Amino acid sequence: MTGNETCEDAGRDGGEEPATDGGERTTGSRASSEPRSDGGAAAGADDVALDPWGSSTVSDYRKLFAEFGIEEFDEVLAEVPEPHYLMRRGVIFGHRDYRPVAEALREGEDAAVLSGFMPTGDPHIGHKLVFDEIIWHQERGADAYALIADLEAHSARGLSWEEIDEHGRNYLLSLLALGFDPEEGTLYRQSTNREVQDLAFELGIEANVSELGSIYGFDGETDVSHMQSVVTQMADILYPQLERPKPTVIPVGPDQDPHVRLARDLASRMRTFGVTTAYASFEATEAELEHVGDAYESREAYAEDPDQPRCGEAAEWLREERDASDPDVESAITKLENAGMEPLRPRTRFLDRRATDEAFEALIDAIEGEKRVFEEHVDAFDLDRETADELAREVEVDRGGYGFLAPSSIYHRFMTGLTGGKMSSSIPASHISLLDDPEEGYEKVKSATTGGRETAEKQRELGGRADECPVYELYAYLLAGDDDEFAKRVYDECVGGDRLCGDCKEQAARLMKEFLADHQEKREEVADLLDAADIELESPRRG
Ligand code: TRP
Ligand code: SF4
Repeated sequence: MTGNETCEDAGRDGGEEPATDGGERTTGSRASSEPRSDGGAAAGADDVALDPWGSSTVSDYRKLFAEFGIEEFDEVLAEVPEPHYLMRRGVIFGHRDYRPVAEALREGEDAAVLSGFMPTGDPHIGHKLVFDEIIWHQERGADAYALIADLEAHSARGLSWEEIDEHGRNYLLSLLALGFDPEEGTLYRQSTNREVQDLAFELGIEANVSELGSIYGFDGETDVSHMQSVVTQMADILYPQLERPKPTVIPVGPDQDPHVRLARDLASRMRTFGVTTAYASFEATEAELEHVGDAYESREAYAEDPDQPRCGEAAEWLREERDASDPDVESAITKLENAGMEPLRPRTRFLDRRATDEAFEALIDAIEGEKRVFEEHVDAFDLDRETADELAREVEVDRGGYGFLAPSSIYHRFMTGLTGGKMSSSIPASHISLLDDPEEGYEKVKSATTGGRETAEKQRELGGRADECPVYELYAYLLAGDDDEFAKRVYDECVGGDRLCGDCKEQAARLMKEFLADHQEKREEVADLLDAADIELESPRRG
């Protein structure tokens, strides 16, 4: 890069907030020469409260793994066939239970993808991430669903139906323009999907007000319709499985994780039978089971007859080996002691959650091999866990139940605002709308904050801070498209001091302008396709 004597617009001065939040970034396990794209952390915030209706800032993605049990996407990456560039570059950084979806895609089995959009404004480049994720799964054979969360926008955000219709149409045009196939996939709006409303009603029976209160901070002042929009979202998430259970992924930002967790819970509460592992006739919690399981595995160490370790013997072993002041250890010991001479023997347990007598009988009949029937559960000794899961689901579905699989999710990083801080729909200069005039998009990129140094000399000497640069993010999240080489080149040149911000932004701005012009042309081309699609674009509602 030549011709720039000052590294134009270092961007870290003047703004209220620095473009970074003090180095609390996930560094991950990638080789440092690979393009990094973790600039999604928002400035200023150091909390990780996940609030679907809050400001959705996440300052430290690592905490999401530790505190909320979101798993690192890198760990499943190798199992994903031809991963999307957002996956390869760590923009999609986390997941819950994505393996079954990856497996279904690999094996060409049934799978689904669904996400929803609150039509509160124009679709912008942050929404594009989710559009792309839906489309990618659709192209790999998943049943694809995209919904307009109009009930949520109306109840939680107070938008009028007119505004909702206008924004909703804009989201859908962009989705189609980016490649969603409306003939293969399903589009709907919450307010006109009767099946979703009916499912929401059923799911609402499994959740109560105090539970929603503790998850979402709802209180006595919360609108009833806002609560209804929550159960509607639960139904959205499970809707792809209404016909039959299948692995389903919900691509969203991490702010939606509370919804995902609740949906996973409700999916299991709706099940007729539960399936767990057990070692003796008594019931045990997960935590207790772990200790009992360990005791079983160590039976050689203490059992008089290791082919038939006794519960009492296991209790003694645990008392010696474990810290009995831990309440889980203590209760595991008590349960084992009470079982006394009963042999410890691993088994798969079917719990009767909400089965009719007939369904319970049908399950018992269907279990092959040795089994023992109790009041509220059946123990099977010759079935592995997976077979047992399938059997329980089969019996449930045969008898008219849903048999839901717990829905999976993938999480993408939030983009940093072009002006530093977080990207926000309410600050036009901070984000690029998919409807921005291409020239305006060009200008916004040209005036963006960068991770550059104060002067060109310093930039050449020290290199730029691509990891803290919203412009680099634009390349990694969007402008480089599928071209990893290109993204990597920008990164390497930047941190190596061979790239100066002025030229770098000029290049990005031109690419953005091209992208917007092209996208907007495509939006026009798909207008007929949208009008022909099976979705009501105008709401007859009032209010
Ligand atoms: N609550 C989501 C948002 O704020 C929108 C939404 C509604 C959604 N239903 C969904 C997202 C189902 C994912 C899946 O944007
Ligand atoms: Fe500057 Fe480009 Fe590096 Fe950002 S990526 S710091 S704009 S050279």
